[in-house]
Amino acid sequence: MDSHTLLFGVIGDPVRHSRSPIMLNRAFRETGVNGAYAAFHVVPGRLEQAIAGVRGLGFRGLNVTIPHKVEVMPFLDEISEGAKAAGAVNTIVNENGRLIGYNTDGIGYVRSLKEEAEPDLTGKTIVVLGAGGAARGILWALAQEKPKAIIVANRTEAKAAELAASFDPELRITAVPWDGLREVCREADVVVNTTSVGMSPNVDASPIDASWMKPGAVASDLIYNPLKTLFLKQADLNGCRVHGGLGMFIYQGAYAFEYWTGEPAPVLAMRESVLASFD
Ligand code: ATR
Repeated sequence: MDSHTLLFGVIGDPVRHSRSPIMLNRAFRETGVNGAYAAFHVVPGRLEQAIAGVRGLGFRGLNVTIPHKVEVMPFLDEISEGAKAAGAVNTIVNENGRLIGYNTDGIGYVRSLKEEAEPDLTGKTIVVLGAGGAARGILWALAQEKPKAIIVANRTEAKAAELAASFDPELRITAVPWDGLREVCREADVVVNTTSVGMSPNVDASPIDASWMKPGAVASDLIYNPLKTLFLKQADLNGCRVHGGLGMFIYQGAYAFEYWTGEPAPVLAMRESVLASFD
């Protein structure tokens, strides 16, 4: 660090569990970018002041995590199309004093899915389990890949219908009842779990019976703690390809790095640094 160091960080509440500082500082080291990244515990009542601080101190960029991803939006100067569709911002770029909000969660998820499990989503049938913020975050990015259909199901069915209806009909995002999942999973090329079912410490639960899926289809889970959820373990036994949530975390950070620096992210080193932090 010196007097030219570009400053970055993540704001959240809580934030001490975040692996973003480890991952992004490794990326700066790896590429020789003179940057530094820290975690800032910002409670909701201090959010506006935190963003004023980014402007005042001239931070180059910020990641935004729970519970600020939606509430931060009015404090920014511009919101990208993807962030508008996701209804949330997780990455801010400071362009000469203008703060621009992006969402790299959805596109990070899709890049990870394509790199690690299914390179071509065009014409595919994708089932999304859950209708919370995480589901909304990936739907627009999935739709950009021109799948045949995206089908959303949620335990509270009205939320799935409402979420599907909030997108342009041309994106072909529809909802089915939760008890209709068995039938649609049989036809699916990709089934994505965005619910919290299976997350540590409740690791003995799975949102669906993975044997409903056809062998060779992709079972994908946004959860990365544990790295392999019960849903993925059962899908694996069923002959499905499996895709865990760690890649989404790495690629959302990779896009943020690329937006901030204009350089390709050192994805392998970033993954290595995060995996080492699990030991
Ligand atoms: P996030 O922002 O991570 O998506 P969220 O908005 O709280 O978090 O959404 C959690 C999702 O997990 C919701 O889709 C929720 O379903 P409901 O809308 O019916 O609550 C889903 N979920 C949580 N526990 C579940 C369970 N035991 N079975 C099925 N779905 C569950």
